[in-house]
Formats: sequence, C-alpha cells, structure tokens
Amino acid sequence: MPIDRKDYLLTVLKKNPGEIFEIMGSMWNTFKYRFIQPCIGKNTIVRRKTVIINYANVKIGKNCVLQDYVYIRAGAHGKVTFEDGCMINSFSRFFGHGGIEVGENCQFGPGVTVTTTGHDYKENNLREIFKKVTIGERVWIGANVTILPGVTIGDYTVVGAGSVVTRDLPPNAVAVGSPAQAIKHFPVSPSRVN
Ligand SMILES: CC(C)(COP(=O)(O)OP(=O)(O)OC[C@H]1O[C@@H](n2cnc3c(N)ncnc32)[C@H](O)[C@@H]1OP(=O)(O)O)[C@@H](O)C(=O)NCCC(=O)NCCS
Repeated sequence: MPIDRKDYLLTVLKKNPGEIFEIMGSMWNTFKYRFIQPCIGKNTIVRRKTVIINYANVKIGKNCVLQDYVYIRAGAHGKVTFEDGCMINSFSRFFGHGGIEVGENCQFGPGVTVTTTGHDYKENNLREIFKKVTIGERVWIGANVTILPGVTIGDYTVVGAGSVVTRDLPPNAVAVGSPAQAIKHFPVSPSRVN
C-alpha cells in the first residue's frame, strides 16, 4: 500500500519532534533541486544529505523520492535520467559519466551502485572507458546490487539483493547472484502495474 506522506510526517513528528530539522533539511534540498539547480520534476522529494553533481545533465521526473545520502553524478557528456515515479533508497550511488537511463516506477534498494566507467587495463595509463547503463520500467533493484557499465536491464525485472549485474538481463525476470543470472521469468498483469 502506498504511504500517505502527510500522515507519515505527522506520525513521525508527534513521536519525535526533533525530526523537524530533518524535515526542514529535506524541504530545503527539494527546493534547491527544483528551483536553484533545477533537475527534478513536480512532487519529487529529495531528502537531506542527498547530492546531485552536474545537475545540468541530470533529469529526474515527477513523483520520485530520493532518500537521504543518495549520490548522483552526471558526466560532462553522460546524462542521468530517471523517469516519473522512481524511488531511490539511501546510500545508493549513480556514476553517470557514460550515461544512465532509468524508466518509470523503478525501485532501488539501499546501497545500490550503478557505474558507467571502466578502465582499459591493457593500457599503461588505465584510460577511462564509458558505457551507458539502461534500466527499463518498473524494475526493482535489491539492496547492495552493483550494476556494471554497458548493461541493459529489461522492464519489470527484479535483481536480488547483493547481486552483481555484469551482462544484460531480460524483461520480466528474477535475477540473482554474481554474476546475476535470471532464475525465474514471470508475467505481469496490467492490474499489478502501479
Ligand atoms: C530475489 C528476491 C526478490 C526473491 O525472489 P523470489 O522469486 O521470491 O525468489 P525465492 O526466494 O523463491 O528464491 C529463489 C532462489 O534464489 C535464491 N535467492 C533469492 N534471493 C537471492 C539473492 N539476493 N542472492 C542470491 N540468491 C538468492 C534463493 O536462495 C533460492 O535459491 P534455491 O532455489 O537454491 O533455494 C529476494 O530474495 C531479494 O533479494 N529481495 C531484495 C530485498 C531487498 O533488497 N530489499 C531492499 C528494499 S528495496
């Protein structure tokens, strides 16, 4: 069941009045990324201590939540895009020099790392290589998953906690392990979407 944000805030404040400072920090961060360094859509919440670097190359849609301590860095050329309705949990990190594209309504558990940078280990100077990561719609990425450069994850797929995604994953699959492999395929009925 979706959380009623107003009800949640009132309940938290009643029990922990000191949380007002956390809430004010979130309000400030949301304001900052909506109007001063604009890169988020309407009704998107950015909680305190979350940082977005190179915001001109970041676009986060409407009705998203970025919990506290999320780190998003776009590159000079690589863009980072989250479509509407995405939820990103604390301590998740997105390094978007090669570009990151995320579809609607995706969920990221805590501590997810998405990296788009590699190094050519055969060259003396470890030249950087950038590759885009593409994540479909309504994908659920479990806690502490690492997603490597160049990977595409299909719509509706679930990636189990702690997995390392080294290769593309199909849509409608449950994938687990290191390297992550699809262990199940499932249909999604339209009524279950959203
Ligand atoms: C993948 C997941 C969703 C379970 O999906 P499921 O379809 O119910 O899968 P099951 O529990 O039936 O497990 C199927 C098999 O995969 C294994 N498995 C499940 N999750 C795994 C994981 N994260 N890593 C490795 N193996 C895993 C199970 O042990 C089981 O193996 P077995 O058949 O040898 O016994 C769940 O395990 C998971 O990782 N959830 C993420 C939770 C999370 O990160 N929450 C943070 C908040 S978003």
